[in-house]
This record gives sequence, C-alpha cells and structure tokens, in this order.
Amino acid sequence: MSTGGKPLRLGVLLSGRGSNFLAIAHSIREGRLPNVEIAIVLSNVADAPGIQAARDLNLTTAVFVSKGRARADHDADLIACLRGHNVDLVCLAGYMRLLSPGFIAAFPNRILNIHPSLLPAFPGLDAQEQAFDYGVKIAGCTVHFVDEHLDHGAIILQRAIPILETDDAHSLSERILVEEHIAYTDAITRVASGDYVIRGRRYVKR
Ligand code: GAR
Repeated sequence: MSTGGKPLRLGVLLSGRGSNFLAIAHSIREGRLPNVEIAIVLSNVADAPGIQAARDLNLTTAVFVSKGRARADHDADLIACLRGHNVDLVCLAGYMRLLSPGFIAAFPNRILNIHPSLLPAFPGLDAQEQAFDYGVKIAGCTVHFVDEHLDHGAIILQRAIPILETDDAHSLSERILVEEHIAYTDAITRVASGDYVIRGRRYVKR
C-alpha cells in the first residue's frame, strides 16, 4: 500500500473491549509496525472500554452512536470522519456492526477485519463458542479484507491452535485472543508492505 514514504494512517473501528486495538497500538509504540500511525479510533458505542483506552493513550477519538440510526447515514458520518483524518487503512477491531456497501466502496481493499475463527467456518457472533460446541479440534483466527458480506473477504492470514481436552469455550476464547493480537500486527505489516496482489479471493505475496 503506497503512501509515498509517509506513515500509513490507520482508522480503528471498535464497539467493545478494544484488546485488538490495544495490541495494534502497543505494536506501534514498541516499533513492531514501523511507519504506521493511528490517525483516529472510532466507536459506535459511547461507553465502549476500547474508546476510553484510546483516550487514555491520548489518541484522537470519536464516537458515532449507531443505535437507532440507518446504516447508510451512520456510515456516511464514519466515512467523512475517516477521510477528514486522512486514513489510509481501516482496521475493524471488534466492530460489531455490518458496514454498508457505501462504506466498502469508499475504502476499496483498504478495510481489514479480525475474526476469532478459521473462516469460512463459524462466521458471525460467538465464533469461539460455535467452534467449541461443534467439536472441531483446531480453532484460530483470521484477518481478512472486508467486502459486503459478513466475515467474508479475501484472507490475509490465519493462525491456528489445537483445542485441548481441558478447554471450555472461555479458555478457548482466551487462547484464540492471544493469537489475534499477533495476527493483526502481522496482517497490517503485510498490507503496509504493498507487496501482494489479490487474485479472486486469494491474497498472494509477490
Ligand atoms: C475479538 O475476538 C474479535 O475477533 C471479535 O470480537 C472480539 C473483539 O475483542 N470480532 C468478531 O467477532 C467480528 N466478527 P476486542 O474488543 O478485545 O478486540
């Protein structure tokens, strides 16, 4: 993704706890994401712990409450805000609301999402519990480009872990989360390098 040598500016969208956002922020602060900066953190939930965490880090934040608003209207506000802050790459980090086609079109192949399953298995809510209840033996997480379908676009990378005899849905979620925090930084590194093409659904390193 070419920025002409300037830092790649991230717009992070979240709805809740914000641990993936914090993992990205720590990677930047600790030098694991060189030439990347967080331009703005947006939440659609006023009291999301993640937005408070962003304020505590003195990052630029904004809240656009989505409840009760038409998706297209709400997303138009997000697009204007992200553009106003010169965002190059949008990172969904536990943003629990479908994006409108207009939003996807505004940032073509420039929106990433992290999902706590090995897609295409277990899209949607409570993916870790879905995987545990299904009885799969391997679980994990996926970082992918976002298209107009839920948890669907081209996959950038996945990290897999075995499900242990001793696991319950909670312990499995916690172990997947450890992988998520590594995966998001790795995926941003790959996208920031620009050293890839997307062929159909396939992310292919050049
Ligand atoms: C993460 O497990 C993320 O993968 C998931 O929400 C959680 C947010 O945690 N996202 C989805 O399920 C998207 N379909 P966080 O707020 O601590 O990053």
